[in-house]
Formats: sequence, C-alpha cells, structure tokens
Amino acid sequence: MTAIETCTADLAAFERIVRNRRSVRGFLPDPVPPAVLREIFELAQQAPSNCNVQPWQVVVASGAACRAISEKLLAAITSGQPVTSDYQRVEEFPGIMRQRQIDTAVRLYGHMGIARDDRAGRRRAMLRNYEFFDAPHVAFIGMDRRFHETVAVDVGMYAQTLMLAMTAHGIGSCAQAAISRFPEIIRAHFEIPDDVGILMGISFGYEDVAVPANRTRVPRAPLGEQVRFVE
Ligand SMILES: Cc1cc2nc3c(=O)[nH]c(=O)nc-3n(C[C@H](O)[C@H](O)[C@H](O)COP(=O)(O)O)c2cc1C
Repeated sequence: MTAIETCTADLAAFERIVRNRRSVRGFLPDPVPPAVLREIFELAQQAPSNCNVQPWQVVVASGAACRAISEKLLAAITSGQPVTSDYQRVEEFPGIMRQRQIDTAVRLYGHMGIARDDRAGRRRAMLRNYEFFDAPHVAFIGMDRRFHETVAVDVGMYAQTLMLAMTAHGIGSCAQAAISRFPEIIRAHFEIPDDVGILMGISFGYEDVAVPANRTRVPRAPLGEQVRFVE
C-alpha cells in the first residue's frame, strides 16, 4: 500500500482546473466528440459516495435530442404551465447569502446589459436556462426520489467531479437548478422511471467567448467567514 503521492505538477494543474471552472452561459454549436464525452463521464464515475452506493442517475442528451427537450421545457415555461419540482427549493436565502445571491445576479445581468428594473430582460435571461444557453449537450442528473439530503450530497460531489473533468478537457459547463423544473416532462421525454427524481441539469460544450454573459466572474467569501480551524 502506498499513500497518495504529492506531486507539484499535479497540484498546479489541479489548482488551475478548480480556478478555471466557472459557469458558462453561452456555447458554440460544435459538439464534444463522443470519445471525449465517454472519457469525461467515465472520470466522473470516480466521485465518492456514502458506502459507495453511487446514487446518481444521468441522462446525457446531445444534438437533436438536446434541442428537442429544450423546446419542450421552453414551451412549458412560456405557456405559463405551473412549475413543479421533485425537491423542496430555497427561493430566497437569508442574510449574507441573500446579498451574495443579489451580487451574483447584478454581475450577470450587468454583463448582459439588463437593468435591475428591466423585467422583460430578466425574463429573457431566465428563459436562456431552458435554451441551455445554446449548448449542444445537456446532462440531467437525478437519484431515487425516496432519497433526501444525505444522498443528494453524493450527487453534488458527482456533479462537481463531472464539471472539473469537463474543465480539464477545455469544456465549459453550467449547473442549473432551473432545468430540474418540470421533472415530469424530462422523465416522459427520456423514459426515465417515475421513481427517479431530477435534481439538476448541466448544460455543457465549448464556450462562446463572444457571449457577454461569459464575462461574468463571481467572487468567493474570505476563508475566515466560513471555515474555522480549531486545535
Ligand atoms: C446546484 C446549482 C444550481 C445552479 N443553478 C443555476 C441555474 O439554474 N441557472 C444559472 O444560470 N446558474 C445556476 N448555477 C450557477 C451558479 O449561479 C454559479 O455556480 C455561482 O454563481 C458561482 O459562479 P461560478 O460557477 O461561475 O463560479 C447553479 C449552480 C449550482 C451549483
């Protein structure tokens, strides 16, 4: 048995990958080659989970399949169909988290040229979620609907591992709670069993650097605000 090795080159590469990952909200139409797709999803399988149960259930839609589900979700949201969700959502966060939520929206809308009182602009920005920001691929990520927070933790670890694997391959991604809305449409479209709940989606592909939303950068809180080291 050998301990995990430390290698300076690995550390530098890892830091670069973690820091380079950010939410991409505008993609080129070019598809990710199928072999690269498989490599990324194979790598994400290495994510840890409690008792190694590996609870994530994933559907990856590409090309025409991606556009077809986008059209169905867009039709649902624009026709005013009541939004549904398999899981409880926190719509408004308290205190400092609300401030961070607002700051993030201000930064994103600022780059998109949407003023705070521009309701039509904000709605257009919201609808971009359902166009998957023009991404050629979308992954819907779910788990057995009987599971709650303790298992969703595993799925979150999977999602970040997946997005880091994408970053390492030069592929942009955006995690989206928005596209877990209308889960019954997603299940019906992909023949996903009724007992699988949809937690989130991830739109992904090659970044279109000309899209203004992609200039958005959001900061992180200083370490001391959230982490305590105790001896
Ligand atoms: C679980 C989850 C759900 C998210 N849902 C959305 C979403 O519906 N739409 C969106 O534009 N961004 C969404 N985001 C992206 C966050 O806004 C983004 O991660 C955060 O602002 C930090 O920015 P960064 O990813 O660029 O570092 C989501 C992120 C996570 C982790």
